[in-house]
Amino acid sequence: MNDIAQLRSDFPIFDVAVDGNPLCYLDSAATSQKPQAVIDVIKNYYSQENANVHRGLHTLSQRATQRYEMARETLAEFLNVTSREIVWTSGATESLNLLAFGLTASFIGREVILLSPFEHHANIVPWQEAAKRTGARIEILPITEQGILDLPASLKMIEQLRPAVLSIAQASNTLGNIHPIEPLIEACKKLGTITVIDGAQSLLHLQPDLTKLGCDFFVFSAHKALGPTGVGGLFGRYELLNALPVYKTGGEMIATVRFSDSTYRDAPEKFEPGTPNISGVIAFSEAIKYLQAIDKVALHQYEQKLYRELLQQLTAIDGVTVHGDTNNNIGIVSFSYKNEHHYDLATLLNSFGVAVRSGHHCTQPLMAQLGLDGTIRASLAFYNNNQDINRFINALEASIDILD
Ligand SMILES: Cc1ncc(COP(=O)(O)O)c(C=O)c1O
Repeated sequence: MNDIAQLRSDFPIFDVAVDGNPLCYLDSAATSQKPQAVIDVIKNYYSQENANVHRGLHTLSQRATQRYEMARETLAEFLNVTSREIVWTSGATESLNLLAFGLTASFIGREVILLSPFEHHANIVPWQEAAKRTGARIEILPITEQGILDLPASLKMIEQLRPAVLSIAQASNTLGNIHPIEPLIEACKKLGTITVIDGAQSLLHLQPDLTKLGCDFFVFSAHKALGPTGVGGLFGRYELLNALPVYKTGGEMIATVRFSDSTYRDAPEKFEPGTPNISGVIAFSEAIKYLQAIDKVALHQYEQKLYRELLQQLTAIDGVTVHGDTNNNIGIVSFSYKNEHHYDLATLLNSFGVAVRSGHHCTQPLMAQLGLDGTIRASLAFYNNNQDINRFINALEASIDILD
């Protein structure tokens, strides 16, 4: 079993001083830091291996193609699905756009797109556009006063509405809440409702087994799970995935092209026109291999221990209110301090070298529902340690002293 605390030394960014301070990085929900192994893959790819994929007979092109396709295998194994069910995209946002566009074909006879109140704008706006195109309407699952998904009322709502699609995050980027998606998926299955799970936040922390989960689609971004920016993908149950219409067109996704018309390849290729982000895909698979080498239970326990410590120290500060579900959480604390503006506190925290996010976290409808105009969000990953928490709490107390 790995000693999780030792893994921090694999991340070169923690040797860097920011504005003269050692980095206290508590913004992993925005993007995760990258281990040296992932950085090396990108450097080596461009310095020693660069070639286009699926195009050349020459050695470098064949090698690049093999590594690009092997990356698909790695992701598929990690998610416990088959490699032809994995499509590479530029990230969760593009994956959700692809699905919102493609799934509109299945709206015949059903007019509801069901979302949760916790969704990131990337899982709202593409559906709004789909609704405009199809005449469908968007409905929102109910939330309790504590800012937690109301499961019994949600199940009832699914049964009543018989939606065409349910699209919901496995974990909230703003509050960290882990949503009870298993019973929701089960309820949807019985009604023929298509389930889309936004795994942008959960991939790193929960490492879901998608066959066990039973969802129809699952979207993710590499950069939230130790990989590079600009790459991500989606899983789709093959018969559903392959039935989706093409989303973008161009070279490599075609079977035949004539000036009169064209025919397309099957999934996943039909969704991957043009030259892909080859180094990004390969580096992402390196990130996944890095994660696979870590004991999943130990990683989860370590993150949860840090989260409890952070929560305990934070809630001991008079005037702090923590929002969301602290019992089922991927390691995010979203909080307010009295009536102070989140922007002011985050700016002060930055002056102590503490990186947090403030604002609405791309979840304006959730903020409106909770009656907030924003929060300060500290988000953890396994490369954080107790020292980060102590530095954050000390900086917060010092910032409060300045404000009060
Ligand atoms: C829950 C959730 N969904 C979707 C996204 C969009 O991801 P990306 O910006 O990588 O496309 C994010 C990014 O913060 C997110 O947290």
